Amino acid sequence: MAFLLFSSPLPFSRVALLLKLSSHRSWFPNPSPFFTRCRRSPSHSLNPHHSQLKSFCNASSSGLKPVAWSMAREDVVILGIETSCDDTAAAVVRGNGEILSQVVSSQADLLARYGGVAPKMAEEAHIVAIDKVVQQALDNANLAAQDLSAVAATIGPGLSLCLRVGVCKARRIAGMHNLPIVGIHHMEAHALVARLVEKDLHFPFLALLISGGHNLLILARDLGHYVQLGTTIDDAIGEAYDKTARWLGLDMKKGGGPALEELAREGDADSIKFSIPMRQHKDCNFSYAGLKTQVRLAIESRKICTENNPISSANQDDRSSRADIAASFQRVAVLHLEDRCQRAIEWALKIEPSINSLVVSGGVASNQYVRTRLSHVVNNSGLRLVCPPPSLCTDNG
Ligand code: KG4
Ligand code: ZN
Repeated sequence: MAFLLFSSPLPFSRVALLLKLSSHRSWFPNPSPFFTRCRRSPSHSLNPHHSQLKSFCNASSSGLKPVAWSMAREDVVILGIETSCDDTAAAVVRGNGEILSQVVSSQADLLARYGGVAPKMAEEAHIVAIDKVVQQALDNANLAAQDLSAVAATIGPGLSLCLRVGVCKARRIAGMHNLPIVGIHHMEAHALVARLVEKDLHFPFLALLISGGHNLLILARDLGHYVQLGTTIDDAIGEAYDKTARWLGLDMKKGGGPALEELAREGDADSIKFSIPMRQHKDCNFSYAGLKTQVRLAIESRKICTENNPISSANQDDRSSRADIAASFQRVAVLHLEDRCQRAIEWALKIEPSINSLVVSGGVASNQYVRTRLSHVVNNSGLRLVCPPPSLCTDNG
């Protein structure tokens, strides 16, 4: 659900309502169909950028073609705020896609201490960090808030307590400077960020979005027009990486995924024959819960005890045993992606024969092994792989 909101109190109540409705859940509900066109409310703003900005916003968020460009794209400057999970992030971006600044404050310490994201702790950490992160993004861009054309904030999916912090900050800035607010769908942002770095990425394209909370295969036909080809029926791949990393006693301050990727380089990926999920299901959906169970059993059967025995204090045998599990897990986790992408490419080409790109984005897309393996799938199909740089794959402003 992508909303485009302006800073008058009435339209904003949509976000407030969404937050309220979702407060009994830890995650925002996944919109179905995956994304809908944004809704636009009239702007009552006095900000001189507004009428021009409306055409920009129509172009970028609603799937409607811009009617007229009364403002050059490079003159439009947006502050983006993202607090959907455990990173407090802000960025300043021009309408032509130029990133003027990008700041991320990580909660890796909290992640390591609590073994996962604790929503209340994460909310508090966002509250502590948000003003500084936003100010830093503005400073790095050499801009003041009054120079902005609009403020964008993630409105979901994500942890409702955390999303609220970013949305409130966006609302405060917008209210103070009479700026429009653009509500951003977290996964749509992961998909479309590729357009900032790959200027000749045109619709339609296929996108694989792989993060801590989502596994999605979507056919992006146009702005605001997406067809979901597959999703996870249980856990997302990032969750499986994080759990496996924790069970193997890795240093979670690095982030579970990056720590596991590093250890896997030392291991033998063929040493444990985990079964590949959902081979019998001829669709594009994903499942990682079964693989997690297989990993857990492998750790238990090898009598690897990670309690009070982090990887840093493991002896050589113990370390190589853990590395074998990490590498074997990663091989199968990514084989599952390969299977599903292969089929999704076939499906997508039937629906839209003109697609020529597979975008891979979301935190797990920063993994080098994932990129290498998927590049083979894509090359064999005559498509090209578009992966944003790691700093744009993980959550960012
Ligand atoms: O998109 P993202 O930053 O936040 C969510 O929307 O969830 O993705 C975070 C996920 C985490 O599970 C993290 O462990 C994973 O992305 N991740 C990685 C790597 N870097 C981040 N997984 C595997 N290898 C990596 N290098
Ligand atoms: Zn994300």
